[in-house]
Amino acid sequence: MDIVIKETYLEMSKYAASIVAETIIKKPDCVIGLATGSTPIGTYRELIRLHREGFDFSRVRTFNLDEYLGVGMDLSKPYHMDQSYARFMYEELFRHINIKPENVHVPDGLAKDPESFCRAYEEKIAKAGGIDLQLLGIGMDGHWAFNEPGSSFNSRTRVEKLTKQTLNDNYEAFYKKAGISREEMPHYAITMGIGTILEAKAILMMANGSKKAEIIAKALEGPVTNEVTASAIQIYQGEATVVLDREAAAGLKQLAPSSHCT
Ligand code: PGA
Repeated sequence: MDIVIKETYLEMSKYAASIVAETIIKKPDCVIGLATGSTPIGTYRELIRLHREGFDFSRVRTFNLDEYLGVGMDLSKPYHMDQSYARFMYEELFRHINIKPENVHVPDGLAKDPESFCRAYEEKIAKAGGIDLQLLGIGMDGHWAFNEPGSSFNSRTRVEKLTKQTLNDNYEAFYKKAGISREEMPHYAITMGIGTILEAKAILMMANGSKKAEIIAKALEGPVTNEVTASAIQIYQGEATVVLDREAAAGLKQLAPSSHCT
């Protein structure tokens, strides 16, 4: 595991974007697993900047980690009133770059039969040749995507019930400003499983801010446990890079030998 610590969120985001860009340069039709949330926004801004300088996304294929159940993109609503992750990706990345809509995959929160949708999503990932680089944040409860505490490390794409902690974090970050009450928020999501994520050829995990320091230390240095599903990174067999800002790294005691500060 390579742990890279940057002084600021901006530097962290630029570094993360450079890893994505390198993956695309090496393999222009690569498959990138994308994440939503506040953490990757800076990375997406940097990718948009690169595109404005001519960087080409025309052959890139993407699969998003998750989507709320019962929610779908509705472009007739203003962005802040549309809580779908599909809309987030559209606004924060896709509409600003030359990615082909047919190459973009976000779980369909409005799927009539979510179970069979989840199976088909796994099949699509496999048919695309698997994920070359998976972007990941980390939730305050240690989750990867919506793999809440207790999710099996063998889990696949499925419907998951969100924990109180996640509902609370999402409410504060997104729903409050849309005037949506806690009761009205979606309580379930479609999420790639930990097993699905662990099959990616490379992982890029990001975290910033002091509020993530404790959970980052648990995930990277604590026991490997499905109570902190991101601790699965410790048993991950592929190439893992963790990019942190100084504040999120503050709880780490023993940095891995490969870790470096810049
Ligand atoms: P955040 O969410 O980037 O908004 O902190 C991360 C996550 O829940 O995975």
